[in-house]
Amino acid sequence: MKRDVHVAVVGATGAVGQAMIDTLLRREFPFASLRLLASARSAGTVVEVRGQQITVEEATPDSFEGVDIALFSAGGDVSLRLAPEAVIRGALVIDNTSAYRMDPMVPLVVPEVNASDIFKNRGIIANPNCSTIQMMVALNPIHHVYGIRRIVVSTYQAASGAGQRAIDELKQTATAILAGEDPVAQVLPVSKLERHYPLAFNVLPQIDVFEENGYTKEEMKMVNETHKILGDSKIQVTPTAARVPVMYGHSEAIYVETERSFAVSDVKKLLASSPGVVLEDDPAHQLYPQPLRATGEFPVFVGRVRKDLFVDNGLSLWVVADNILKGAALNAVQIAEIWVRQEGNW
Ligand SMILES: NC(=O)c1ccc[n+]([C@@H]2O[C@H](COP(=O)([O-])OP(=O)(O)OC[C@H]3O[C@@H](n4cnc5c(N)ncnc54)[C@H](OP(=O)(O)O)[C@@H]3O)[C@@H](O)[C@H]2O)c1
Repeated sequence: MKRDVHVAVVGATGAVGQAMIDTLLRREFPFASLRLLASARSAGTVVEVRGQQITVEEATPDSFEGVDIALFSAGGDVSLRLAPEAVIRGALVIDNTSAYRMDPMVPLVVPEVNASDIFKNRGIIANPNCSTIQMMVALNPIHHVYGIRRIVVSTYQAASGAGQRAIDELKQTATAILAGEDPVAQVLPVSKLERHYPLAFNVLPQIDVFEENGYTKEEMKMVNETHKILGDSKIQVTPTAARVPVMYGHSEAIYVETERSFAVSDVKKLLASSPGVVLEDDPAHQLYPQPLRATGEFPVFVGRVRKDLFVDNGLSLWVVADNILKGAALNAVQIAEIWVRQEGNW
């Protein structure tokens, strides 16, 4: 039976939270009410949604009374504290943080890849890391047909992936350098560490903190989440994650080796017909994916598809997506859409 769906966005004033509200509206998600939650700092802020003024409230356990779907993007600590409270009160939590991603009881979902895992949830579904999501959308069709055994990926990640403060810092450091002043960095590469570097006119080969194995946490997310989403921990993943002075849109240079041989023309046809992918690959006309053009768009753009010159079954691709949309807000809203459709509420 059809019933009203009540939605809450936790972290509603942040870069991802605002994109969630926007994406719910763009995709005409059938919510009967929308609750906007953040910290005490921005409680009282008024946001206009569908012509209605909604006041942002401080997120507390009781905020989830009567909520059916809670979209979380307020940091891992908030998710660890409040997601179980939302579940107890009957909400389905779709969590954008890394808090629950590797919990074996929590499905980690990219709808184009493993939508059926949505229905294995016990109250919480995790959204993967932004870099992993776009890589999975591009590689899953290739894995399905040709069997991927190795992935070497270098990311070129936008400032917005580190939140609103990083976006502001990129603007400030660029303005300072152009004015001939010393740039002051306090947020990147990782705000909680001692050392900071300006991102403007620079590239930072560190996203999140380093682990003992020499890889960063961001890089290890790409390894572990790929294994969980594709259900195959034998795939060899070698990532390098870098932050570049781009506002929105992550780019990835991806090299894969497959079990079975392929013709590049067949791979292109496969990608062109794959869900969530737009193939933009016409070197003769200089057509290839770029973050500026991907900003504000929903698909994952794939181009520069070519065979390795030396390795049999080696394939290179260039993959770009809006990290705030497909890398976060859109992926979460797609999961919510599948859930409400299955429940017969849309
Ligand atoms: N940016 C991306 O590309 C991306 C992609 C995937 C996942 N994520 C994840 O999504 C989360 C948010 O990212 P973001 O980029 O949107 O960050 P952001 O722009 O810094 O926004 C953070 C949001 O969390 C809220 N918040 C902070 N502390 C809170 C608390 N104690 N209680 C309730 N709300 C609180 C903030 O509210 P106030 O206004 O009150 O401070 C704000 O709405 C992070 O965990 C991030 O890792 C981000």
